[in-house]
Amino acid sequence: MERQTSGFHNIFNKTTAMTAFNRRNFLRTSGISILPAIIPFTKVSALGTYPNPDPAAPIIKLFGDGEMFEPGDYLTELQKANAATAIVRDRYGSGGVVEALEKKFTALTGKEKSIYMPSGTMANQLAIAVLSGENTKVFVQDTSHVYRDEADAAQSVFNKRLMPLAKDETYFTAKQLQTAVENLSNEEVFKSGIGAISIENPVRRTDGRAVPIEEIQKISTYCRSNNIKMHLDGARIFMASAWMGVPIQEYASHFDTIYISLYKYLGAAGGAMLSGPAAVIDKMAHLIKIHGGNMYSNWTNAAMALYRLEGLETRLQNAIKMSAEIFSELNKIPGISIKALDGGTNIYSMDLGKEIDGKKMQQTLNKDFNIRMPRPNDKNHTLLTVNETLLYQNAAYTINAFKKSIS
Ligand SMILES: Cc1ncc(COP(=O)(O)O)c(C=O)c1O
Repeated sequence: MERQTSGFHNIFNKTTAMTAFNRRNFLRTSGISILPAIIPFTKVSALGTYPNPDPAAPIIKLFGDGEMFEPGDYLTELQKANAATAIVRDRYGSGGVVEALEKKFTALTGKEKSIYMPSGTMANQLAIAVLSGENTKVFVQDTSHVYRDEADAAQSVFNKRLMPLAKDETYFTAKQLQTAVENLSNEEVFKSGIGAISIENPVRRTDGRAVPIEEIQKISTYCRSNNIKMHLDGARIFMASAWMGVPIQEYASHFDTIYISLYKYLGAAGGAMLSGPAAVIDKMAHLIKIHGGNMYSNWTNAAMALYRLEGLETRLQNAIKMSAEIFSELNKIPGISIKALDGGTNIYSMDLGKEIDGKKMQQTLNKDFNIRMPRPNDKNHTLLTVNETLLYQNAAYTINAFKKSIS
């Protein structure tokens, strides 16, 4: 399985981060940060000569799932949000823009209720704990954030035993789950019940590969008929939905609870939303408090997410279309091969031939065209991530930028 970390560290140095700040500031004040489709950019038509990019040129980021603002840009973006609709503050997560965002997520997911959480980790852990009740066993993907990246919180804080399935794979099948459940009576003497299963979709550790909806349906049917509760770690569910063509509500309908990140592509500085049945969500405020997660003010995150949520699904569809056009043109160039990952979402594999100096290409794209991509490794391989920043220029600009960067 191809793996590569997304490479923030590969891409940035202090200088680029600072100039990025200035460019962004200009962009935000000029009011073109949320672009409906494509910005016509004067240099685009000047094919052939590409001096250093205009300081105002928006930065296309071929890594990450969306905008992650630098502080100055964040403030400018929030001012725009405030100008569009005056931001009403929350107090301890109650009222104002937090409540408005909760209502949006309830509609988006088709669940009864939603609650703002300070982090996705807390959303996952509290959802799993509440769904499981007194039962201790929780089946998870071996590759999931819940299993590998939440500091054993389930075991050490919530008295749950995470039971990993499908080592190093994106997902476990309904059949694998059923076998694991049925084997328990042979494998263990003392019985303690199965509380819940948690599924991450798409899976960060397998480069954004998605769990097929058909498998989710089968797992859900099995779990419902065996009274096993289901939680969806949908941190990046917008990516799965856009690339797999499955509505978010449909994904959510197969689970009791779903968590969605507010900062991976909604621009917030942090935060998460948990949606589910009222009986589950109503328990959360108290649990957030006793775990020290009840922050006095959350409006800076909620207002940003609410503002950026508007039109995101359309922008992602446009990004998919544009990436198809760009990648098909780039694949005509000898020495460039860009492919979708098997079962993948917004992350693509790019292999370069020996004739192309991948590191130089990356530097030129950065310096001359404001396009950031992860540095190719020693095998001239890298991953390109498609997100809404692709829409900051038209397809011709990006295609020509790649052509110039290898010439
Ligand atoms: C799949 C997934 N789930 C959960 C989280 C946790 O989110 P947070 O950083 O808000 O705790 C992350 C964060 O990287 C993640 O990638």
